[in-house]
Amino acid sequence: RRALLKGGLLGGAGAFTLAGAVASSGAASEGSAPGTSSTGTADLVVPFHGEHQAGITTPPPPHAVFVGMDLDDGVGTTELGRLMRVWTDDISRLTAGVAPVTDQEPEVAARPAGLTVTVGWGPGLFDRLGLDDRRPSWLAPLPPMPVDDLDEAYGGTDLLLQLCSHSPVPLAHARRLLVGAARGIATPRWVQPGFRDPGEQAGLAFRNEFGQVDGTVQPDVADRDADLLWIGPASASHPGWVGGSSLVLRRIRMDMEDWERADRVAREHAVGRDLATGAPLTGGEESTPVDLHAVLPSGLPVVDRHAHVRRASPHAPHERFLRRPYSYEQVGTDGTVETGLLFAAFQADPVRQFLPVQRRLAEGDLLNIWTVPVGSAVYAVLPGCAEGDWLGRALLV
Ligand code: HEM
Repeated sequence: RRALLKGGLLGGAGAFTLAGAVASSGAASEGSAPGTSSTGTADLVVPFHGEHQAGITTPPPPHAVFVGMDLDDGVGTTELGRLMRVWTDDISRLTAGVAPVTDQEPEVAARPAGLTVTVGWGPGLFDRLGLDDRRPSWLAPLPPMPVDDLDEAYGGTDLLLQLCSHSPVPLAHARRLLVGAARGIATPRWVQPGFRDPGEQAGLAFRNEFGQVDGTVQPDVADRDADLLWIGPASASHPGWVGGSSLVLRRIRMDMEDWERADRVAREHAVGRDLATGAPLTGGEESTPVDLHAVLPSGLPVVDRHAHVRRASPHAPHERFLRRPYSYEQVGTDGTVETGLLFAAFQADPVRQFLPVQRRLAEGDLLNIWTVPVGSAVYAVLPGCAEGDWLGRALLV
């Protein structure tokens, strides 16, 4: 019997099943399903097959790693097709808790802890392979922003893997296996690990390293705002993109020392929300909409003109996207630690939806006092695939 543990917070693509039940087709017993009592989340399975890839509307688990890879010289569409077939097969197994044939640590693979792997193609892939007729019109690096201090070491790559899991163990295992499977076709340029803890927050929000409740205001992508997330037939540059999306990944350094020198009032005014509860400074609780028109008796706005939530709030209904960020810590060999946010945003069209917001923030956001974007990359996220099919097939054959 296939045991369904818990529905995803965001519907469909986030539903969990238990690894043992999927892997051994019917071995799950009545009552407590295998592994749940002693192992917690170890046996969670997020279904891989479907119209969309998993790892987008799936509630973000605590661990993630983003891997940016470049195609090796001389690689053509045939080799890319071979890689996509191998990755699809490996990902479908790893996420179900079934070890791929080449797996030397099958015991690790058996406990995927809700592993998801999401695959994207970067602008360079289309340039390199001459696939311009299949390139989404919006697929290009973001234009330079006045706040940027970008390090090319964290720039755009030809391919992206986003891996997420409740445990860092299957995550590291899957990353090694998938990078290994690409040997001779693609090589990693960067690996960016991230973490988050929903803690006391419900839904998509978590506490970032500034201690803020982050991720509260989101489009309703499971329902009425689905068009904001998924590429539809009308906007797709090629039918092979229908059901896909895009990912903007910004690596943003956060100056913890300076932040901690600011007083609490200044820190709350920088965003426009209460640090403890995440509630708007205009009152209510975390889920209460911010009243951007509220004024103090002095006539000044309650939410500062340059507060993050004012600058980031949409000026038109389409200026919205799904935020799914992770915190990062980069530990130097000299004992120094850089702290920041791997800001990951998913949307159907980043130029139309994301860019106007990013421009407003770059031109005047109080948070810029303490944050600096140091990496930036844009990817087209492939649609999902049905059982027996492989990711990207409709774009390559
Ligand atoms: C809201 C933090 C970067 C877009 C928020 C909130 C916090 C926050 C605490 C309020 C709660 C919420 O609704 O999530 C940060 C930090 C950043 C950062 C610490 C960098 C280190 C960005 C970037 C963008 C962005 C780069 C997009 C270009 C938004 C949006 C909202 C938001 C759209 C919701 C605005 C609304 O209320 O309508 N952010 N953010 N943020 N942020 Fe950020």
